[in-house]
Amino acid sequence: MLRGNRELWLAFVFGILITGIYIAVVFFTREIPAASELFGHSIGIFGFILMLMTETLYSLRKRSRSASWGRMSTWLQFHIFTGLVGPYMVLLHSSWKFNGLAGVTTLFTIVIVISGFIGRYIYTRIPRTLDGLEIEGTLSEAALRQARRLMSLWHTIHIPIGMALFISAFVHVGAALYYATFLK
Ligand code: HEM
Ligand code: HEM
Repeated sequence: MLRGNRELWLAFVFGILITGIYIAVVFFTREIPAASELFGHSIGIFGFILMLMTETLYSLRKRSRSASWGRMSTWLQFHIFTGLVGPYMVLLHSSWKFNGLAGVTTLFTIVIVISGFIGRYIYTRIPRTLDGLEIEGTLSEAALRQARRLMSLWHTIHIPIGMALFISAFVHVGAALYYATFLK
């Protein structure tokens, strides 16, 4: 079970810190950091690594039968933390221009974060142990069945959005590195 909102608060604090650094860079360079220059590029790469971790680590832990490292609730908290901080860094990387495929990738990123919040809401409706297993709880049988159905419907939407996001992100990264970095 996810208890409290600790991961949301932590992500918020990190968001404020990153915003502070971003504002300092704008202040000293007197311009919006370009996506292809040192600062803008670095936050794009670092944010993308966090997003890749979000996409893979929780699923790996969830599907590993032998794994005993770390509680599922902690992994989900980490998933949510990196799933918020990564997209935020990538948003700052965009230099507030959203043309073409890079713009589409940003849109997918925003959609998956919103979808994540919806999933978190449904997930926390179902009573669970700290390892994420469903348990008898306060929900009536009918309400539990409905929450389970919603959760599986949500998975069938959320997972393809994630895949579309990473396909367009990889094409963007390949094209950006080729045209904006190596050909320079
Ligand atoms: C999901 C992750 C990412 C998103 C959503 C994203 C989004 C964007 C956006 C919106 C732009 C501005 C496009 C424009 O000028 O209209 C941009 C530019 C750029 N991105 Fe990304 N980006 C991501 C990851 C990365 C990564 C990991 C790299 C590098 C390895 C990268 C390299 C670049 C470069 C070099 C540019 C500048 C292109 C140019 O000046 O023409 N991006 N990105
Ligand atoms: C880069 C952003 C994100 C990506 C790529 C992503 C990707 C995924 C994937 C692939 C799964 C399926 C895990 C599985 O069942 O194997 C998942 C589940 C989930 N995600 Fe995210 N997610 C992101 C952000 C978020 C955010 C911001 C939240 C919450 C605010 C969130 C909450 C959840 C929840 C509650 C689940 C369901 C856990 C379960 O059923 O076991 N995600 N996410």
